[in-house]
Amino acid sequence: MLNIALPKGRLGDQVYTLFSQIGFECAAIYENDRKLVLESPENDVRYLLVKPSDVAIYVEYGAADVGVVGKDILLDANPDVYELLDLGIGKCRLAVAGPEDYQEDRERVLRVATKFSTVTKKYYSSLNREIEIIKLNGSIELAPILGLSDVIVDIVESGKTLKENHLKVLETIIPISARLIANRSSYLFKNDVISKMTVQLQEVLAK
Ligand code: PRP
Repeated sequence: MLNIALPKGRLGDQVYTLFSQIGFECAAIYENDRKLVLESPENDVRYLLVKPSDVAIYVEYGAADVGVVGKDILLDANPDVYELLDLGIGKCRLAVAGPEDYQEDRERVLRVATKFSTVTKKYYSSLNREIEIIKLNGSIELAPILGLSDVIVDIVESGKTLKENHLKVLETIIPISARLIANRSSYLFKNDVISKMTVQLQEVLAK
């Protein structure tokens, strides 16, 4: 049986649609919205519904054989997994954003609010810019509004959240999309099924 860590939410719905097209249908997914483990014995698949930011942890520790996770999380957490395929969904970008009237003051240490500390540190160190990170877990856009930070580093998809909060993109750091990842030993011991799955997904995506 293949264990798939599926991110809960909109990305997970898109991923399931994709996976069901290559033979990993699981009718139970539509029957119960509280169960976190859903199986289809006839298709030899078990879905684990996990928080998007936890997918890579389940896969790294082998609780799931494969999973789908945003490149943003892979870049920041750097889990010990194989990254097999860019699924081209969940597209967005990781960007620096700040108030609409933001003026950079290079004399001061920049205060940056973000969930993505590793990527943020790396980005600013490549610019030789001294920063102080304010680690938040969500609603990052609030930080510059309340003066908690000068700027934020966060995901921008439609740009609506920034606009509604009178913020704008100052720099794009990197484009992001969802990736298929695999546990290292599962990739060895379940190689047939995981390789076949990767090829079939490539075919579906190419259509
Ligand atoms: C993400 C991100 C932004 C928003 C961007 O937040 O952190 O807040 O989506 O999307 P947009 O450009 O289409 O408006 P999420 O919904 O994941 O919630 P969070 O505040 O908990 O991070």
